[in-house]
Amino acid sequence: MSDKKKMPLKFRAYQAIYPAKIKLKQLKEKLKGGKKMANFNLEGKKAVVFGVANDQSIAWHIAKALNDSGVRVALAYQERIESLVKPLLGMLNNPVAEKCDVVDDALLDSFFEKIRKEFGKFDFLIHSIAFAKKEHLEGDFYSVDRRGYQVANEVSSYSLTELARRALPLMNNDGSIIAMTYYGSKKVFPNYNIMGVAKAALEASVRYLAYDLGKKGIRVNAISAGPVKTLAASGISGFDKMLKHAAEKAPLQRNIDADDVANMALFLCSGLSRNITGQVIYVDAGYSIMGI
Ligand SMILES: NC(=O)c1ccc[n+]([C@@H]2O[C@H](COP(=O)([O-])OP(=O)(O)OC[C@H]3O[C@@H](n4cnc5c(N)ncnc54)[C@H](O)[C@@H]3O)[C@@H](O)[C@H]2O)c1
Repeated sequence: MSDKKKMPLKFRAYQAIYPAKIKLKQLKEKLKGGKKMANFNLEGKKAVVFGVANDQSIAWHIAKALNDSGVRVALAYQERIESLVKPLLGMLNNPVAEKCDVVDDALLDSFFEKIRKEFGKFDFLIHSIAFAKKEHLEGDFYSVDRRGYQVANEVSSYSLTELARRALPLMNNDGSIIAMTYYGSKKVFPNYNIMGVAKAALEASVRYLAYDLGKKGIRVNAISAGPVKTLAASGISGFDKMLKHAAEKAPLQRNIDADDVANMALFLCSGLSRNITGQVIYVDAGYSIMGI
């Protein structure tokens, strides 16, 4: 069977209408006169963004916000979702886009070689990736097997350290590295399971990396986002319930969206946050301050 035929019918249908959906989005933006983002004066900077899967991805909203603030963006995407990433490139100014997978050393080598050639040095590294097997994002946490535990941690947590190490020789001295996390690292959210453990390790990695890279003037922070409907989120059993609960319990009585996260990322890339490092910053409409 060809790879295409192996994909679920729902995904193939989505893939078929996707380019038209993106074209329409582009047209709407043009008619509005372009999306105006807050001016963080990032003109001339360069960013490497991991984790764009489609136009809903948090990474995409960050990449677009950086692009609209004058940053040249490079996207690292997984080969299996190339057809969803390519239509987005027309919305960026002179982007670089290259396939990469954080568990594949050869692809990591060629990706960073491409960045070295295209960018020379760059300023921002965005880590917006996570993965766990679907069966480990439901039911009892203890049902996770050794391999499932390893995979979730390798992709969702260890990869930040791997990318930081590879990026370091190419990053300018006042650079900023940002990872995406969730409150399930600190409190129990049924079904989030192994991803909560991976996010706890990711947040600890942020602190240790912030210490190491501080000597070079590079800052490392994590954004802890409230729930946002994305491809990855759809893998978490009962995600719609999480969304509803978050909006009911948060002091601001609403859900956040990916643009809220992108705005925080802009701030963390800008000089306005020049003395903030090693932090986990919540963009969750206040949800995490509540006891009951
Ligand atoms: N959506 C939410 O509610 C939410 C909330 C808090 C934090 N986050 C975090 O935000 C980040 C982005 O997720 P999203 O919600 O935008 O979903 P998404 O599905 O759009 O993004 C996840 C990305 O991870 C990438 N990825 C997975 N395995 C990879 C691998 N081996 N190599 C390279 N890339 C790989 C996928 O290609 C995809 O682009 C994740 O770290 C997620 O845990 C999401």
